[in-house]
Amino acid sequence: MAAEPTPADKFTFGLWTVGWQARDPFGDATRAPLDPNVSVAKLAELGAYGVNFHDDDLVPFEMTDAERDATLKQFKAALDAAGMAVPMMTTNLFTHPVFKDGGFTSNDRDVRRFALAKVIRNLDLANELGAQTYVCWGGREGAEIDAAKDVRVALDRYKEGFDTLCQYVLDQGYDIKFAIEPKPNEPRGDIFLPTVGSALAFINELEHPEMVGVNPEVGHEQMAGLNFVASIGQALWHKKLFHIDLNGQHGPKYDQDLVFGHGDLISAFFLVDLLERGGYDGPRHFDYKPLRTEDLDGVWESASANMRTYLFLKERAAAYRADPRVQEALAISGVDELATPTLASGETYADLPRVGDVDADALAARGYGYALLDQLAIEHILGAR
Ligand code: GCO
Ligand code: MN
Ligand code: MN
Repeated sequence: MAAEPTPADKFTFGLWTVGWQARDPFGDATRAPLDPNVSVAKLAELGAYGVNFHDDDLVPFEMTDAERDATLKQFKAALDAAGMAVPMMTTNLFTHPVFKDGGFTSNDRDVRRFALAKVIRNLDLANELGAQTYVCWGGREGAEIDAAKDVRVALDRYKEGFDTLCQYVLDQGYDIKFAIEPKPNEPRGDIFLPTVGSALAFINELEHPEMVGVNPEVGHEQMAGLNFVASIGQALWHKKLFHIDLNGQHGPKYDQDLVFGHGDLISAFFLVDLLERGGYDGPRHFDYKPLRTEDLDGVWESASANMRTYLFLKERAAAYRADPRVQEALAISGVDELATPTLASGETYADLPRVGDVDADALAARGYGYALLDQLAIEHILGAR
């Protein structure tokens, strides 16, 4: 089995993932800060293709312009030396207290103007580094109480934010698209655009819907009790899967950001199966947090675990699809028949059968064989076939 990642696999990591110091609401950091240049070199050594980052991950909020220039110069050298790409970038609009009521949707107009300026400054850097996807995770765009915001008005401001940023990208001639990352809650009690479905609907209301897609995260849909594979299927159907955040989560609870596959493994299997067959050729980005219990060895162990798990699942999914027993079970289940239009070409509703003429009991007698299909998947996941 091939589980040694190479850049051709397009695995990427956020600098904030391996660099997470494991501060949580109840406890202090358990790990020392990690130099981004070290992360770049180490991730390259492990077989990654690139890194993604928030402005503040590399250039802390309080840095002067001169310090910023020097840091960027060093970072570019580290990227070159390691042969690493930066396919995606994003803005931190959630850590500094100025964003406690949101960035694009803060009730304070000056905060909204500052938030847009902060994104624009980082878009220039994204263009310079060749990033083609700009993720917008609105972690603080939301509220705890319903009286705090009129959601309709907040969405007006959210739309204004994206329309302004799209116009900036168009005016500069940058080759950059935006990807909205939905999340139902945390850190806000409720976050606007909580699911992939809500983000897709919102995008249709924008001035430049063609420039905006989604960046779904495994754990975020699962926090909302939703089926991630189904959400990705719909995002692909809308041609809106611009990026993806892979990780693991055990059902609806706080955002766990576990290693990919270390949550719902069956769902991870069908996700890889879909991504590999479904026309997504973007980066496979891991947005996870190394467990708070880990030292630096554990950090690199877990980084590697994400990639290895993905590759094992890719191999298992290919074996599942190639298995004659699975193909037989798929045929019994009629999975291919769903691709046949319900009306034949030239037919209209007038060609539908009369309800009274249909023998519904005869149609109901059929079994669909899904139990076997699922068990075959389990046996492939377990390496039993
Ligand atoms: C989360 C989010 C964040 C965002 C990242 C990009 O776990 O709630 O995934 O990690 O993806 O900050 O802005
Ligand atoms: Mn998350
Ligand atoms: Mn994420």
